[in-house]
Amino acid sequence: MMSLATKLVPEVVKNLIPYQSARRIGGQGHIWLNANELEQSERYGESESYNRYPDFLPQLIEQAYLDYSGSDFLTGRALQCETLAVRGADEAIDLLIRTFCQPGEDQIVICPPTYAMYEFCADSIALKTVKVPLTDDFGLDVAAVKPHLKNSKILFLCSPNNPTGNVIPQEDIVTLLEAGKASTLVVVDEAYIEFAPQTSVAHLIADYPNLVVIRTLSKAFGLASIRVGFVLADKSVMDYVARLIPPYPIADPSALIAQKALQEEGLAAMRRQANTLIAIRDGFVEAVSALPFVAQVYPSSTNFVLVRFKTDDCLYDYLLQKGIVTRNQSHDPRLARCVRISIGTQASMAETLQALKDYPFDPKKITTV
Ligand SMILES: Cc1ncc(COP(=O)(O)O)c(C=O)c1O
Repeated sequence: MMSLATKLVPEVVKNLIPYQSARRIGGQGHIWLNANELEQSERYGESESYNRYPDFLPQLIEQAYLDYSGSDFLTGRALQCETLAVRGADEAIDLLIRTFCQPGEDQIVICPPTYAMYEFCADSIALKTVKVPLTDDFGLDVAAVKPHLKNSKILFLCSPNNPTGNVIPQEDIVTLLEAGKASTLVVVDEAYIEFAPQTSVAHLIADYPNLVVIRTLSKAFGLASIRVGFVLADKSVMDYVARLIPPYPIADPSALIAQKALQEEGLAAMRRQANTLIAIRDGFVEAVSALPFVAQVYPSSTNFVLVRFKTDDCLYDYLLQKGIVTRNQSHDPRLARCVRISIGTQASMAETLQALKDYPFDPKKITTV
């Protein structure tokens, strides 16, 4: 039976033969003159030389990531899927769109407010983006998403969601996986999963080959600058995604750091960091919620909080004047008077809280309660 992936993938990708890089072709020998590298070069690091191209696919870190993904820290459910290392979750989004969507013809579905890259990547190849807004309390409007699935190649869900911070209940995701079984890839972006690890849906790939999960080392692992992320997907999906990935996706220095981060010591450090951050976040949420000009601090399962203020005065600008750079969300009418604040160290959050306490609040300026 033809897999959903084979049904969805455009002819041009179906017929694509992966680029035959020197590393992929391989060979055996003691003199390597097949990749136009310098055999000897200046050493910029302490001990490594960087003259050779890296592995065409870094299998060591992919296996380590798969082992981590099936560990008790997440759901403890062994995964039946393949892993692909990419340059951050952003590359995963772009790759999935370019693998399965025909430029200028296909459509995707997103549920705003959500991460902006899904629409940006779709726009970049002239896809239509159908928007099914989240409900007033930022839940998924499952009934409103369903009718769009049969005409959409990809549904992007983000859980926990950026910028709202909440988790999508697993039963909603399963309902949409069922509804889209014959028509749609459901991509769940789990960039923030380490802050709510038991809510991962990656184990469902075994039952739903139309599920793809995106992950990253940029958030809880604290490795945003090395640009490493992962795609977890059924083999039928990965066979096509892997065709489009550029020849040497992960730079060697990044692969070495990722490998260390995924060993037991690195994982223990990540878990400690995540727990510390959650404690700082919860204290910050409690203190900010008590401020008289704060309408709501939305419950967060991430390393940021979304705060809605009661006054039209832009608290983003106020904090900026104090040298505290947050993310203004008020360009989105659903997020009027909202600022997204990443959770930093105890010292950074104490300074931010003090700045907010010092805000010269005028009760006459309240626009909502
Ligand atoms: C939901 C979500 N997905 C993906 C990304 C991008 O992550 P990466 O650094 O791995 O490209 C971000 C970054 O903010 C994000 O919030």
